[in-house]
Amino acid sequence: MAPQGWSPSSWRSKPALQMPTYPEADALADAETRLSGYPPLVFAGEARDLTAQLARAAEGKAFLLQGGDCAESFAEFGPNNIRDTLKVLLQMTVVLMYGAGLPVVKVGRLAGQFAKPRSADTETIDGVELPSYRGDIINGMEFDEAARIPDPERMIKAYFQAASTLNLLRAFALGGFADLHKVHRWTQDFVADSPAGKRYGALADQIAHALAFMEACGLTADNVPQVKEASFFTSHEALLLPYEQALTRQDSLTGQWYDCSAHMLWIGDRTRQPDGAHVEFLRGVGNPLGLKVGPTTPVDDLIRLIDALNPADTPGRLTLIARMGADKVGDFLPPLVEAVKREGRTVVWSCDPMHGNTIKASSGYKTRAVDSVLREVEGFFAVHRDLGTHAGGVHFEMTGQDVTECIGGAQAITEDALAARYHTHCDPRLNASQALELAFLIAGALKDERTGANGKVPLAAVS
Ligand code: PEP
Ligand code: CO
Repeated sequence: MAPQGWSPSSWRSKPALQMPTYPEADALADAETRLSGYPPLVFAGEARDLTAQLARAAEGKAFLLQGGDCAESFAEFGPNNIRDTLKVLLQMTVVLMYGAGLPVVKVGRLAGQFAKPRSADTETIDGVELPSYRGDIINGMEFDEAARIPDPERMIKAYFQAASTLNLLRAFALGGFADLHKVHRWTQDFVADSPAGKRYGALADQIAHALAFMEACGLTADNVPQVKEASFFTSHEALLLPYEQALTRQDSLTGQWYDCSAHMLWIGDRTRQPDGAHVEFLRGVGNPLGLKVGPTTPVDDLIRLIDALNPADTPGRLTLIARMGADKVGDFLPPLVEAVKREGRTVVWSCDPMHGNTIKASSGYKTRAVDSVLREVEGFFAVHRDLGTHAGGVHFEMTGQDVTECIGGAQAITEDALAARYHTHCDPRLNASQALELAFLIAGALKDERTGANGKVPLAAVS
């Protein structure tokens, strides 16, 4: 049931970029052995269900909303963060469903999004050079020598944090928290008065009326469980392959292998070499996969990668996550979309408007302008409109907290204000109200696509 030449460990004979070197091989092997004896975090049937939902997104009949932290951390682990991230994702979901009339496939960068690729192997501060921080699953963020040594015990800690995060997410999704009757309760105080928060309030009123109407027709949460339950999936970058291998299990129902660390796994822009270890590992697991494509992705490579990752052209199996940058999307995306179309491959095209728009503020903070994020999404939709393909999803970094990490937006966060609440462990994230703004923009663009309108819908026209 595995592709030819593949086994859960076949990646080990391929070049693996971005992988830590653990100083003690025995300690690593011991952690891997323990992890492989622990229960899987997700069940293969759930991954297949997500594939089926993504197949609808590939056809333009659903929309993928994939978001969460750039990097989860041990320090920020707690119920409130999980709850607040979910609140924002649920708010974005109803904005999209109500505004665009499409089902939304909800996937969190959550419950396993720990390992980070880095542009340099070392970091130098005041003349002191140390190994780079690679995410809490590998080493510590503190700038001291001991913290930066890769420690396999961190994989065990990350596994238990992921298990407990997923447990709460499942409870929220099915236990009443995601009930559409609670649309007003998902708004946090600091969001309510922002421009996006006010628009959301008006939309939530309309949803409440619509629900009352449906109930009058006899469609209640008791006979339509979708009203009170949400399906919610998890995902992360499959970067740290010893961890991913240890959680890879053979499904007893189908005999196929699944990486049970999350429902969906993606390959990052820095580890997508067609002959590399990450592609080798992921080609053999049955989960739906994401592949980041950037301005440096050659068309030929992309087709080779699609051949490797989705040889049977299974709808929903592969999501291409374009992360071009607002100024590049119009030039670099069309040749890739055209090639995929020409080759007759079925993919979900999703837009990551974050990673091509990272800049350095004069104060030294890594930031992103909300304006660039929104422009890249608009550019992405324009490319698909021109080529007659579907804009199938969005992939973004956000938090439910009131952080000041991205500049601009309707709240007009300035460069000077970044220092106030800059908490990210890696890249700058949209805060809750900036994320809502993004959802309103996408709802407008999707509505446009569905009604065949050709041109931008002004934000104010979307309700
Ligand atoms: C990420 O999604 O956090 C990331 C590192 O993205 P990319 O691989 O696109 O640079
Ligand atoms: Co990031």
